Amino acid sequence: MNLITEQTTKIKATLPKGDPNKKQEVFYNPLMKSNRNISTLLINSIKNKKMNFVFPLAGSGIRALRFLKELKRGKISTIHVNDLKENFPTTFKENLKLNNLNTNKVLIHNQDAELLLLTQHQGGFGVYFDYIDLDPFGTPNPFLASAVNKIKRNGILAITATDTAALTGTYPKVTKRKYWATSLKNYIMHETGLRILIRKVQLQGIQFDKALIPILAYHKDHYFRLYFLSEKGKEKCDQLLKQHQYFLFNPKTLEFKTSNYNQESEFQFAGPLWTGKLINKPLITKMVKNNPFPEEQKFLETLKEESKIDITGFYDLHVLSKKLKQDPKKRDILKKIKASPTHFSPTGFKTKKSIKEIIKILK
Ligand SMILES: C[S@@+](CC[C@H](N)C(=O)[O-])C[C@H]1O[C@@H](n2cnc3c(N)ncnc32)[C@H](O)[C@@H]1O
Repeated sequence: MNLITEQTTKIKATLPKGDPNKKQEVFYNPLMKSNRNISTLLINSIKNKKMNFVFPLAGSGIRALRFLKELKRGKISTIHVNDLKENFPTTFKENLKLNNLNTNKVLIHNQDAELLLLTQHQGGFGVYFDYIDLDPFGTPNPFLASAVNKIKRNGILAITATDTAALTGTYPKVTKRKYWATSLKNYIMHETGLRILIRKVQLQGIQFDKALIPILAYHKDHYFRLYFLSEKGKEKCDQLLKQHQYFLFNPKTLEFKTSNYNQESEFQFAGPLWTGKLINKPLITKMVKNNPFPEEQKFLETLKEESKIDITGFYDLHVLSKKLKQDPKKRDILKKIKASPTHFSPTGFKTKKSIKEIIKILK
């Protein structure tokens, strides 16, 4: 066991070495620090108060501990923490003590995540949650149905997915089976993968008239991270469905577009996928302003810029240079063609201009 400090919080945990599924070890992944930083910042940047939080796959419990330490006053009504590992309750209690945290808002569980979500009752009624954080190893699929079921109106459903290869064209059959869509392997694959995953989560909600609207969705390091606002209503669901389309890409001309159809000569396709917004502009603006984590500032600022041109697909400087046989500078491109950077790639940029217009301006 190591004593680890992450921002405000200390924990006793084992750093990942070998098999993270090993029974007795509490799992702490330092690479996910940024993921956790952004989650506390997001909750501190929305208006919701007196929230009922649940961490069904809490691991070391570091995220829950950080929420207890870092969230503004009045945000937390209750926090449920759960992990299937046998020693989880003991170590979590120790970690609460280590951080001098009061336990009266915390409920500690040690059972299967789905069972936990579905079987919480209070006063004879099922408990619904204002915030559910799914942080599984790999795909969130096994937990989606229960999480979508148990998220409250105006609640936030947060999901991490680390099975990026299954969504970005490395295993096309897996994408079909697990995510009911066709993936594409090219420089836009992280965006199409993220959008395929968003649609899959939304379909789970739509069948119960729950509209899950992305307020922040991004790709970073080796994972996807998604935050949905849960709203109720058939019409809202119909609106979401209209934004499930195909992404068409012509590798020769670099032209791309979204469409209800996937068969057009010269075009490859990915999807169906979510073609709506990935980033809520007022939210990211607030997050950039309130951010207490210097190490996240650049990434958040890129997301803020990107939220101004939040369309499906982007161009890549290297790919474009090859085509144009010239070497345009990114700064010049952003200025000349009114483009925004994209977090999906350091050499990528988003613009509503077509490839023909871009070439004309650059030549
Ligand atoms: C990626 S880790 C969670 C990391 C953690 N959220 C953090 O920030 O450190 C996934 C956790 O899910 C737990 N787990 C896997 N399947 C589970 C299930 N069916 N029910 C409850 N916990 C489960 C594992 O024991 C593991 O601790």
